[in-house]
Amino acid sequence: MRLYPIGPESNQGSATTAAVRHLYVHIPFCLQICPYCSFYKEASDRNKTQPFLDSLLGELQLAGQELRCETIFFGGGTPTALSLKQLDYLLTGLHRNLDFSALREWTFEMNPATVSHDKARLLLDHGVNRISMGVQSFDPGLLKTLGRVHSVEQVLRSYDVLRKAGVRNVNLDFIFGVPGQTPDQWRDTLAEALRLGPEHLSAYCLTYEEDTAYFEKLQAGEYFQDSDQDARFYEVTMETLERAGYEQYEISNFARPGYECAHNVAYWYGEDYLGLGPSAYSTVGSRRWQNVCDTEKYIAGIRSGHLPRINEERLDPATKTAERLAFGLRTRWGVPERELAGVIQELPAMLAQGHLERAGERIRLTARGRLVADSIAELLV
Ligand SMILES: C[S@@+](CC[C@H](N)C(=O)[O-])C[C@H]1O[C@@H](n2cnc3c(N)ncnc32)[C@H](O)[C@@H]1O
Ligand code: SF4
Repeated sequence: MRLYPIGPESNQGSATTAAVRHLYVHIPFCLQICPYCSFYKEASDRNKTQPFLDSLLGELQLAGQELRCETIFFGGGTPTALSLKQLDYLLTGLHRNLDFSALREWTFEMNPATVSHDKARLLLDHGVNRISMGVQSFDPGLLKTLGRVHSVEQVLRSYDVLRKAGVRNVNLDFIFGVPGQTPDQWRDTLAEALRLGPEHLSAYCLTYEEDTAYFEKLQAGEYFQDSDQDARFYEVTMETLERAGYEQYEISNFARPGYECAHNVAYWYGEDYLGLGPSAYSTVGSRRWQNVCDTEKYIAGIRSGHLPRINEERLDPATKTAERLAFGLRTRWGVPERELAGVIQELPAMLAQGHLERAGERIRLTARGRLVADSIAELLV
């Protein structure tokens, strides 16, 4: 039996010449902008789409990075804000330029308002085998508070459309700690999610990100953060989903056995990845960079034959190890005790306090430790 969904301590940013096995593609378009979201995105703009698609394919060529993709993740933004024709154009272009022979997981993020039978079929026909849909809540009032473009009924219809089209691996995203949300509303949302029975669930505590309308409301005193209430929401999440047979394999991620997101696990264990599109990060060997967070500058850069990279940095081996340990600790597989002991002096105290626990020769967070995961990670990075 394999302990991990993907070899966690292999290929940790090894030689830059080795083929990179993980690809991220950022599509920055959304039907409507949600007031809490700080991902790089903009309202869909028909005039930009075709040049943008050509730029993505152009970036792949310009990067000249050898790729042998085991996982691909299309995120955003909303990748399915693209039309059928545009998706077909992009994915056909990728097939012409990429080695898909080792591919085992290809995820597409979807917003429920952008799902159709034909889109789902097109994605499956191109080799996509995992859909991640942003639901956030099954409460109509909270969907309004969250500024979502879709209704509860649309989520249910879209889920049904995906299943009928033949999608066998579905993740649903949820947010708790939404202004005005009650524990009963969250329990009802979890119950409805379980009734649908996706293979994977992500449950995120609302973060008030700078540069969002939500952050402004927090600053203005219109919204409040209640960390005790958030902790209770989180405890209910862990209890409810574990009881229903989902394994919590990372702070915010729950999966039926065998359905962990291999792409994210690869990130957490420090594997190299190439990111295409505006704002996308890449880490290859000891180099990390981000693409410019501006679609027009991104397109202009690629058109003039330049990779529009910013924030390029060199990562020394100690930094890479610290990052891998900080992320690895948040997973159910944890990290080797001998490695962690070398970098956290507080390890014996944290074991004694019940924030960390041993699993064989590895150390991982306990349920209590998950509540204070960020402060534990701060000891490492
Ligand atoms: C990039 S979005 C992609 C999903 C798709 N665009 C949609 O919204 O339907 C990925 C997920 O991040 C989560 N998310 C975004 N902003 C967040 C925030 N400020 N706090 C917590 N979770 C957030 C949401 O659950 C969202 O579904
Ligand atoms: S949550 Fe999704 S749909 Fe909403 S703005 Fe962010 S990326 Fe777009």
